[in-house]
Parts: sequence; C-alpha cells; structure tokens
Amino acid sequence: MSNEQAHHDEYDDTFVAGLEWMWGEGFLSPGGPAEVAEILSGVDLRGKRVLDIGCGIGGIDVLLVNTFGAAHVTGVDVEAPLVAKAKHTAQRAGLAEQITVELVTPGLLPFARARFDAVFSKDSMIHIPDKAQIYTEIKRVLKPSGRLAVSDWFGSAQPDSPELLAWLDIVGLTFALGTIEEAADLLADVGFVGIESNDRNAWYATYMERELATLQGDNFDRLASQLGRDVAERRLESSTLKRQVVDQGLLRPGHLRATRP
Ligand SMILES: C[S@@+](CC[C@H](N)C(=O)[O-])C[C@H]1O[C@@H](n2cnc3c(N)ncnc32)[C@H](O)[C@@H]1O
Repeated sequence: MSNEQAHHDEYDDTFVAGLEWMWGEGFLSPGGPAEVAEILSGVDLRGKRVLDIGCGIGGIDVLLVNTFGAAHVTGVDVEAPLVAKAKHTAQRAGLAEQITVELVTPGLLPFARARFDAVFSKDSMIHIPDKAQIYTEIKRVLKPSGRLAVSDWFGSAQPDSPELLAWLDIVGLTFALGTIEEAADLLADVGFVGIESNDRNAWYATYMERELATLQGDNFDRLASQLGRDVAERRLESSTLKRQVVDQGLLRPGHLRATRP
C-alpha cells in the first residue's frame, strides 16, 4: 500500500460558500445536526476520542464535542484551505483544545493503531476510491469494540441515466459511487462486525425540496448578489438535476455503522 496518492483541491472558496448557503454554516453536506444525530444512532460518543475523516470546514466537529459529548475530535482532510477553515471554526467555538485538525495525504491514515474509540465520516468517503484500504485503515486505528459511523453518497446497480451523467459533469468532483450493499460487504470482509446500513434516499428526496427553496425566488437573488449570477445559476442547475437523479434512485445518501471486534 502506498501513501503517495495525488490530490488536487476541488473545494474552492466560492464552491464552499455555495454549499454552506444550501446546507448551513460549517456544513459541506446536507441535513444539519439532525442528520448527524441519525448517523450516530446507537453510537455513544460521550467521553470518547473520535476521528472525523474528511472534516471539511469543521462545523460537524464542533457538534461532535458540544452536542454529542466527544472528549476529543481529530478532524482530517486533504485540502489545506479547508483544514485552515476548520481550525478557525474550532477556535471560534472555543474548542481549540478539544478539536485537532490535520492535513493528510490520501491513502494510509497517519495514526498509530488503536488510537480512537470511534471513527466518524460524513459524505467524504465518496472521494476515496480504494474503500478496502480506507476500511482496513479505520479498523487499524480503532480500539477493540471501537465504533464506525459513516454517512456517504451511494449509487445503484441500475445503469447511469443521462441526468446522472449531466449532474456528475456539472459538479465536477472526483466521485467513486458504489452501492451501500457493496460497502457493507467490504466492511465485513475487512473484519468489522455488527454492520448496519440505512438507506437515506427517501429522506433526501424530501430534503431536496428545502434545498431547492434556498436557491429559488428571493433566495436566488440574494445568492446571486453575494456570489455572482453565474454561480447561483450553476447551483440551481446542479440541484435541479440532482433532484431528478435522487428521484431516479441513482444517488442515495446512506449510513453505515459497524464495530471493530
Ligand atoms: C462533501 S465534503 C464533507 C465535509 C464534512 N464532512 C461535512 O459534512 O461538512 C467532503 C470532504 O472530503 C474531503 N476529502 C476528499 N478526499 C479525502 C481523503 N482521501 N481523505 C480525507 N478527506 C477527503 C474533501 O476535501 C472535503 O472536505
């Protein structure tokens, strides 16, 4: 296994601002605190040391400490500007002691074995094509009985639709869209037990109405005045296509929970 995988930054300031516009300050993924609570169903973080893979700008790390009682969160991300923002988020929340944010290289995790009680990740693993490697790494850094709680974007076994291809093109991010069943099987293969999966397609289809409302009418005009009309139009076009793809069942947020034996 090599730790020398290339990464080119994909989340520039304007893109980040557009995502926060739709999903709330500090969030680069949908659902806010309620969705984080759903991911953590049955996973108690109180007093635990937690690793957050793909922490983005750190809003969720503040939540993991303040709302879910984690003793310490280590957030890792591959994009230096996001890491800087996440550090700032932690400092602003007065949590510089409880939250450490580290820039990492895609590939192996730079931590000793059995370092964490829990590994969390929200909507970031989609960027990691080698799932077997990252799941093996997560198992290595978890303590025995340590918990994994992940949300990610999954695909379906159906053929790609023109709308899916158009949406992937407009988003322009590097995605590795497998199915949630493949991910659950892989977790079992690398030795996790107690694997639970929760498809969130139906929830997201409903949530998309609210997401689209943040991009329409007066909200569109306000976004255009802040980030430019072309950015607002692109956001609206992207979410309009995404709603079709979600309704087709080809883009499915989902949660996975598992235990390291
Ligand atoms: C959609 S954002 C989600 C950020 C955050 N979890 C949230 O929900 O607000 C995906 C994040 O994954 C990060 N990422 C991409 N590849 C990664 C990798 N190999 N390891 C860790 N993070 C990665 C991106 O830089 C980005 O911050």
